Parts: sequence; structure tokens; C-alpha cells
Amino acid sequence: MSSEVARLLQPIQLGTLSLRNRVVMAPMTRERSPGGIPGPDVVAYYRRRAAGGVAMIITEGTAPDEIGAFGAAIPRLNNDSAAAWRSIVQAVHEEGACLVPQLWHVGAFEPSLVGMTDTLRASSRVSPSGLAATNHPMGRAMLQADIDAAIDAFASSAALAQRLGCDGVEIHGAHGYLLDQFFWSATNRRDDHYGGGLQERGRFAVELVQECRRRVGASFPIMLRFSQWKQLDYEAKLFASPAELEEFLRPLVDAGVDLFHCSTRRFWDPAFADSDLTLAGWTRKLSGRPTIAVGSVTLGNDFKSAQGKQFAAIDQDAIERLNAFLDRGEFDLVAVGRALLANPDWVRTVAEQGANALRPFSRDMLDNFH
Ligand SMILES: Cc1cc2nc3c(=O)[nH]c(=O)nc-3n(C[C@H](O)[C@H](O)[C@H](O)COP(=O)(O)O)c2cc1C
Repeated sequence: MSSEVARLLQPIQLGTLSLRNRVVMAPMTRERSPGGIPGPDVVAYYRRRAAGGVAMIITEGTAPDEIGAFGAAIPRLNNDSAAAWRSIVQAVHEEGACLVPQLWHVGAFEPSLVGMTDTLRASSRVSPSGLAATNHPMGRAMLQADIDAAIDAFASSAALAQRLGCDGVEIHGAHGYLLDQFFWSATNRRDDHYGGGLQERGRFAVELVQECRRRVGASFPIMLRFSQWKQLDYEAKLFASPAELEEFLRPLVDAGVDLFHCSTRRFWDPAFADSDLTLAGWTRKLSGRPTIAVGSVTLGNDFKSAQGKQFAAIDQDAIERLNAFLDRGEFDLVAVGRALLANPDWVRTVAEQGANALRPFSRDMLDNFH
């Protein structure tokens, strides 16, 4: 093993999570589960990545209920799909990795606005204020009964994940979907106690995490993914300063979040002016919780740039840069997205041959999600 990858490959214990190294598979939507039920091809897809050496797989977004899914081929995490998920958990565990489903409710998100397909009726969408973004009305504003139902759906999925032997759950609070629609003032125009300042806009997520925690007990890992950027606005910012980030994080920590997954397009970018700390670095420092960084690991362009959609060359300096961040304790884990689609054996390749031996990512890899 080359010394340059030593830190990346070190095991780590985070609460009940025993991870064999620091590399996590980032959640990536596949739309390959007809009727919401993952088939044998999905089991093989995740087994392939676990066998390739990642420590933990965060699955593609899975819908806790019908209304939160944007299409019929998005997997659900409910009683109908429980047997399928059990097969995925077993396969991933057999290969020595942990399995964490990502729970995802799209809220008012309109897939066609970003070139995706939607097989559910947009009129059934619910969200804080019936907005997908500024000037993008979509569906209707949630009533208290809708809020209660969504929280119950997330908590039921989390409890099911625990019963199925998953190693934790990740709640998708990023990229402009339901939780983020509550966080973001452009999509949360409510005048009840779910709208207003950062604390009020965070209340839905806090109540959701509290209910998940109540249902899964103290030691089952609950992770939360969040981002500044939104699918419909890459320049959006939830927090203008570390103080605002702390105001956002504190109630979530108190509610029971064990680990924060800080979604950025380039993991090394400073989060705020006057400091080199990244979003994952600030979040770790302010929350006292471990963090996952993500964005363009071993790739030469980010996944929302025009080039990123076509072809992403290998960034040869990436491993050295990653180790420098890990060495100074900026974050605990790193998630790899597109590079892991191109290289199911990303960890083994980097460990045995170095980043130079990785295959570049190209858009056509999304056609079959091998
Ligand atoms: C095809 C594709 C599907 C994605 N689906 C999801 C998803 O379901 N949930 C999520 O939180 N992020 C999703 N993302 C974002 C990735 O998790 C990751 O943050 C992003 O690709 C940046 O990492 P990378 O530069 O290593 O690819 C997706 C990205 C891609 C390329």
C-alpha cells in the first residue's frame, strides 16, 4: 500500500458504525426499481461497490411514501420492498461494507425543470408553500396533517431500515427537496411556526429527526445531508456566516443527528470568506459531530458544470489533497459519487495502483448504471 493513501484507508469507529476506511459511496438516483421495488440488478450494483472496498454505501434516494417519490422507478422503503432491501443489506454486509439508505421526499421539486422525467402528477406535490423555487409554483402548501404524515412516513422507514439490519439512515435535507424547501426562505413563505427565521424553518427537520430518534432508539445512526446549493439555484445560500450555520445545526444535534453529510460540488472549497475551512470542516467544528465531505473527488470538474455532465477527467492530486484534509481533522469521511460509477473498485484501485489508474467518468455510464 502506498503511504500517500494511508489515512484514507484507516478504519474508524463512529458510534456504532465500524468503518474499514474513510470512503463512502455517495447517494445516486438510478430510477431502476420498477414499482418502487429494487430487483436483483440493484443488489448486484451495490454488491459490486461494496466488493470494491468502500466502507459505507449511502443508497440512492428512497421514498418513504408515494407522494414523496418523483417517479415509479424510484425505490421505496416500505413493507412491499422490505424483502428486496434485506437482500441488498445482506449482499453489502457479505462484502464487508455498511449500508445506509437515504430517505428522500422531493416535496415540490419538478424533475422536468432539470431534465429528468416525472411519472407522478405534479398536482399531487406538497411542500411548505407550494413553490419549487422563486417564481416556480408547484403543487400545494402542506397542512399540519401533511406535515404529520410526512414525519410519520420518514420515521416508519427509519424504523424499518433498522429492522432490516441497515447500519443507519440518511435523511436527505439537501439540494432543494422537501426538507431543504423548508430550510430555504425562497421556498418557505409560511407564517406559522414552520416559517420565519432559520430556527423556524428548521423546525420541520428537527421534529422529523426527533420522531425518527424516538422510533429507532439512542444508538441507531441518523445522518442528515444538507447543502447550500439547490437544484434550481446553484448560488443559493442558507447560511451567510458560521454563526448562521451554527444556529441551523444546534437544534438538529439536540434532536439526535449523529453525523452530518455536507454536500458541496468541490469538497475543498472554503465555505465562507476569511477562512479556508470547508462546509464539512465548519460543520464538524460547530456541531461537534463527525462529518462527510463530498464533491469532485478524483474528478477534474464538478457534477453540475456543463463539462461535468459530459466527461470528468481524473484529478491526479486528489488523494494527496484528501489526505491533507483528513490529517488535520477537517472531516472524518469522504463520499465519492461519479468516480465510483466509473470505478466500482475505486478503493482497491487507489490503494493498489494509485489514482492514475482510475477510469474517467462519462455521461453514458448513467445509461446502464452497471
Ligand atoms: C446520477 C446522480 C444521481 C444523484 N442522486 C442523488 C440522490 O439521490 N441523493 C443525493 O443526495 N444526491 C444525489 N446526487 C449527488 C451525489 O450524491 C454527489 O453529491 C455528487 O455527484 C457530487 O459528487 P461527485 O462529484 O463525486 O460526483 C446524484 C449525483 C449523480 C451524478
